[in-house]
Amino acid sequence: MKRTLPPIALAAVPLLLLLAAFAPQDVKSGDEALGTRKYSDYQTPRFCGVSCHGDFYQQWTQSMMSQAYTHHWDEIEYFKLAVPHAEKDPAVAEVKAGCNGCHAPIAFLAGDVPPPLPEKNSRANESVSCDLCHTVTGFSGDVPFNFNWISVPGKTKYGPRGAGNSPEHNLQKSDFLASSEFCGTCHNEKSPYGAWVKTTHLEFKEGPYAREGFRCHDCHMTYAPGKTAAMGKTYPDARQHLFHGAHDPGKVRGTVELRIHPDVREAEPGEKIKFTIVLFNQKTGHKFPTGSVEDRLLWMHVEARDARGKVYHLPVDRKGFPGEETTIAADVLAYQDMGVPLNIPNFAGLPRDGIPAGDRIFRMAYFDPQGRMTIQQWNTKSFGVDYRFGPRESKVETCSFKLPGTLPPGPLTVTATLYYQKLVKPVADFLNVPAEEAEPLEVNAHSTIVTILD
Ligand code: HEC
Ligand code: HEC
Ligand code: HEC
Ligand code: HEC
Repeated sequence: MKRTLPPIALAAVPLLLLLAAFAPQDVKSGDEALGTRKYSDYQTPRFCGVSCHGDFYQQWTQSMMSQAYTHHWDEIEYFKLAVPHAEKDPAVAEVKAGCNGCHAPIAFLAGDVPPPLPEKNSRANESVSCDLCHTVTGFSGDVPFNFNWISVPGKTKYGPRGAGNSPEHNLQKSDFLASSEFCGTCHNEKSPYGAWVKTTHLEFKEGPYAREGFRCHDCHMTYAPGKTAAMGKTYPDARQHLFHGAHDPGKVRGTVELRIHPDVREAEPGEKIKFTIVLFNQKTGHKFPTGSVEDRLLWMHVEARDARGKVYHLPVDRKGFPGEETTIAADVLAYQDMGVPLNIPNFAGLPRDGIPAGDRIFRMAYFDPQGRMTIQQWNTKSFGVDYRFGPRESKVETCSFKLPGTLPPGPLTVTATLYYQKLVKPVADFLNVPAEEAEPLEVNAHSTIVTILD
């Protein structure tokens, strides 16, 4: 029997061909990609690790990439603050799904929102996985931000070398994965209020390293001789999957160097000495701190110790620039907007800094729509002064010290110490975040000596 297609179906044929030809461009990205895939479209990291890439797998399991969903502070912030906030305040409703676009991208693509709690051991726990990154073909729009990567899962995996197809997959060389823009798709973030709350890639792009041809990879995925797969060749430049950042004390230590000097070497009690501290960011390709700037605290503490061992705290001199009050530690309250998700009406807030008053803080404050300081980056509408370190920037601080009349003769040792903390301590304590998240890390220190005369 002769089959004839109805005219409408015939008309659909060229349309289907057209759609097939343009499939990659049709792949949804960013918010629109929600629920467009299944978990089973992606291989598990374990599969990649056990079958061939054991070394990279072990590196990845030690990095924050593999913990972006399960890490306890992430779990607390998402489930205790972001989800309830999104359910109460329509202005931030989008983050209930959106947080996962970067932290649990496969759950986001599968439309599993909110994903099961980490303790359920679901596939959301894979966090930023091998197969998510290695199926990314590009990004949509002009600026990489808010998970606007385009992922096309399947047998083709994108990587730095086109050659050497494996029995498991086809390899395609990708210039995009090698670019800093790739990292920017998750390392730049705009809040629902249109504020740029994460700009690691944009800071890098404006800075000296990008101009000189560096990429994120040069500091976070360094090259080393080795195999990239168990049965593969040895390369001189195998891309290491370290992704070490704020959670690696070794990466943070020494980021900024500092040197302190006095204006005179000898003085009598009652006189005034001015100490100058020059601080130099020798290590980061972006600002320091970067990324989760709303959480981080970087501060300088200056102390003098007299010949008898008595210690005096030297507060930093004010410079007088607009917004300076957020850059000098003070006994004030902040973070009142946490009262909304936590259901605490008229929440008075928490101590803003939790460090000695008068210490200099190198930060940029995030403000909620009511103008109060916040650690909820999704609830951010504006910013305070940006007093962070740019790449290779030097800053100069001074501390003027009126020597107490009781100061004993002999050496007075004055030390400037730069500390770093991943999360403001009063916030960590209040939300029961594991203590290590708020542990002060000594970035660097330097001392100078003046002689106190009789
Ligand atoms: C010249 C080296 C260098 C380059 C280039 C560089 N970084 Fe970093 N990065 C560092 C150092 C050092 C640290 C540790 C200090 C810190 O936390 O900022 C760091 C920290 C980080 C952190 C953790 C920040 C935090 O506070 O949690 C992230 C995320 C990061 N880098 C991402 C990137 C991305 C994305 C790029 C490219 C757009 C990039 N880095 C380029 C050196 C570099
Ligand atoms: C955050 C994204 C990301 C994740 C997660 C990730 N990779 Fe990669 N991978 C990259 C990038 C970027 C490159 C190097 C691109 C370049 O320099 O051209 C790369 C390179 C590679 C290479 C080639 C190395 C070489 O030198 O030829 C292999 C193999 C690889 N990755 C496997 C894995 C495996 C296995 C996992 C999981 C255990 C994984 N990747 C997780 C981004 C990622
Ligand atoms: C799919 C989204 C995504 C992509 C693409 C991505 N990252 Fe990340 N990255 C994250 C998330 C989410 C975290 C935070 C994990 C956490 O602390 O919860 C992170 C953490 C990191 C950290 C560790 C920060 C710390 O606090 O220790 C570094 C370093 C980093 N990324 C570098 C890179 C570089 C370099 C690239 C590009 C080669 C890249 N990332 C691409 C999502 C991504
Ligand atoms: C555009 C991608 C993106 C989105 C959307 C996003 N994050 Fe992140 N998040 C990151 C990256 C990248 C880092 C790591 C930055 C760094 O190390 O400084 C991070 C870091 C964090 C951290 C700090 C982790 C640590 O250990 O210090 C928490 C907590 C967090 N995110 C929670 C959330 C929540 C909750 C949401 C939704 C309201 C969200 N994120 C939305 C990319 C994103």
